[in-house]
Parts: sequence; structure tokens; C-alpha cells
Amino acid sequence: MVFVGAQWGDEGKGKVVDVLSERAQAVVRFQGGHNAGHTIYVDGVKTVLHLIPSGILRPDVLCVIGGGVAVSPTDLLNEIADLERQGVRVRDRLTIAPTCPLILPLHRELDLARERRRGNDPIGTTGRGIGPAYEDKVARRAVRVAHLLDRTCLREALAEVSDYHNFLLENYYRWTPVDIGSMEAELERLASTLSPMVRDPVPELARIRTSGGSILFEGAQGTMLDLDHGTYPYVTSSNTTASAALSGAGVGMRDIDAVYGITKAYTTRVGWGPFPTELDDPVGESLARRGREAGATTGRARRCGWLDAVVLRHSVKLNGLGGLCLTKLDVLDGMEELKICVSYRHPRMRDPTIWLDPTLLSECEPIYETLSGWTEPTTGTRDFLALPESAQSYVRKVEELAGVPVVFLSTGMERKDCIQLKEIL
Ligand code: IMP
Repeated sequence: MVFVGAQWGDEGKGKVVDVLSERAQAVVRFQGGHNAGHTIYVDGVKTVLHLIPSGILRPDVLCVIGGGVAVSPTDLLNEIADLERQGVRVRDRLTIAPTCPLILPLHRELDLARERRRGNDPIGTTGRGIGPAYEDKVARRAVRVAHLLDRTCLREALAEVSDYHNFLLENYYRWTPVDIGSMEAELERLASTLSPMVRDPVPELARIRTSGGSILFEGAQGTMLDLDHGTYPYVTSSNTTASAALSGAGVGMRDIDAVYGITKAYTTRVGWGPFPTELDDPVGESLARRGREAGATTGRARRCGWLDAVVLRHSVKLNGLGGLCLTKLDVLDGMEELKICVSYRHPRMRDPTIWLDPTLLSECEPIYETLSGWTEPTTGTRDFLALPESAQSYVRKVEELAGVPVVFLSTGMERKDCIQLKEIL
């Protein structure tokens, strides 16, 4: 079962996956890196995950970092240490695929240098080195997790990328080069701690499926940030849509029995690029404040706007979504009226296929349907029929516009603040 972000990320995938992992045998991350930030609240304790799958708070669940994930060894070990300080057992439950490309300090520097070079048209990356690390993968020169298992292999692989990137940093970007010796020494130091967790996840995942177990595939970022299908070039450097679960984990099509999209009850975006329903006004500010819309990874303020059903319909098609998990419904409490974008109008173009071009999309005017809001608080509601009628109508309208049912509703930050409208697992 695959869970992907249906918008521009930060939809609350971590919470949904954490809730549903209660009945799963494994949770797998299949793309992205520590640009992701998945926040989970259990009994008032906040856990923020970046690379480790959101099944880690369930002691019997196997957690897998699939080969499609770009791994920063330093950040992964820091995350493990943070969890262990919280009393969470990690090392015997975490499998790291040997095929993951590594994110090195060089990649981070390149990410920052590139953004600087773009001047007043940056992508607004998280500055974590994600793009440059995936570039090395495609260029077939990546240093991979497997290299950590053998010192000679590691040194050889590092020498190749270091020469290349330091040349680029110094001579093209006029940037300070990275000290290769200390990078190598740091990696060698981390290698011995990570090595026991490195193993091919493919046989274990196949075994779980054959024995009838459930595997949750946890996406990172969101559909509109997909490298191929999102608002290119203002996207991340991996495929965030459901099909990436297969290649990024190492399973077959028959191993996927359903795909669900996570969407907020409104829309947010971090970083630059078109965002048709963005509200640059007190309503947007109020959504940001009430929804605590600051990035879990970078702390950057998120741009906020009304829910966009054009985006949701696109997501349904791209991912083959069987349903939606709607989060942060309670953030809309107390708003007099609510809007949902049902279509776009472009001043010159009629052709609906061009709507993903960033310039054209930024020129589109959203056409809204207005719905009435509700005054009663919905935070923590656990029964759909206990929701105010207008809130129920809002959910029904989302289903009608997206063309798929809402199967799960999140009504607050805590694990238990949710309503399952349909048996998912
Ligand atoms: P990168 O993934 O750091 O290269 O950033 C590329 C774009 O994706 C930027 O707009 C980022 O803000 C956005 N992005 C990356 N990861 C996330 C995420 O986890 N949530 C939301 N946006 C993200």
C-alpha cells in the first residue's frame, strides 16, 4: 500500500503512516532524502523524522530505507541517536539498502552554490544536497551505501567524485572546495556504525508479501514536486509519485494493492514556483498561523492558500489514487467561508494540457467554489457524524471534486486525532 503526498509536500504523510503502521509488518521509504520532515505526536511527545520511516514508533515494524532514497550518513546517524535518546529501538529494526546513493558534504556545497548562481530565480531547495546527489546517481558515479562496507572501494569512489566536484566548485562556482581528507575520515568513522544495518531489503520484503503481511510505502515530498510530473523546474530531484515505490523499494507491481494520496484541507508550498491558489493576505496568514506552517526540515515559512481540486485531480490520475487522506481539517475551524479551486482560467490559452508550464501556470487565475465554514471546534473529533454539518459537506465536496473517496481524516496533531472512514488495512 503506497502513501504519497497529493500536493506540494508537508501534507501529513508521517502521521497517517504512523497510525496505519499499527497493523503493518514493514514501512519503506522509497525516494527523497533528509529534505523530508515527517512529524508525529504520540501522547504529547513530538518526533520529527527525516530519513527513517514513520513505522519506527511501532516496536514490531521493520523499517526500510529503500535504494531510491539518497542517504546522508551523518544525518541518518544523528536521527538514529535522537530516537535512541527518546527510548526508541532502531538499529535492529532498520534496514538500509546498499544501493542508496550517498549525500556527501560536496553535494550540499554544490546545492548552495547552484542556488546562489540562480540569482533572483532560485528553486528554493532545502539546501541538503539532494539534487547533486541524484545527479551523481544518474551519471553513474555515485558513492553508494555499499561502498561503506569496504574501505578501499569507498576511497576509490570518493576520489572520483571529489576531483570532479571540487573542480566544479572552485573553477565554475567560485566556491570554497571541500576538504576531501576530512570527508573521507568522517565517512570511515560512520561506516562501522552503519554497516550492521546495511542489507538488501528485497528478499525480506518479498517474504513479508508472500506470507500475507502488509507493507506501507511512505512517500516523501508531494506529487507536484515530482521531477517529471511536477511544476518543473521548481521540483525536487526524485520521482515522488506512486510508481517510484516499485523501483525505489525493489518490489513488483503485484505487491501494491492500493495507493492513497495525502492532502491537507487547504494547500501549502515551501520553496519557489507557481502556486495558483496562494493567498497573500490575512486569510493566508491565518492559515499559516493556525496550521503552524513552518517547514519541519528547514523551519522556513510555508506559503498558504485554498485547496486546489485541479491539483488533486491531477494527483489522482498520476498516482492512480484509490482514495484521499484529508489532514488538518481543524485548521479551517472558525472560518466564515471556505473556497476550493475547481478550475483555472488563463488569459490567452485554452489548452488544458499546458497547465504545468511554470510561467503559464503562474498566470492562471483560479476559479473558486465557495462553501460555508463552521464555528464549532473539530480538533480531536473521532466520529464523522460528530463533525459540524458544514465540515461534513466540505469533505463530501472534496470527494466529489477529486473523484475519489476520503478514506481517512486527521483532526489534530496527536496520533489518536483521526477518523477512519473506510477500512484501509
Ligand atoms: P530539494 O528537494 O531540497 O532539492 O528542494 C526542491 C524543492 O522541493 C524546493 O521547493 C523544496 O522546498 C521542496 N521540498 C523538498 N523537500 C520537501 C518536503 O519534504 N516538503 C515540502 N517541500 C519540499
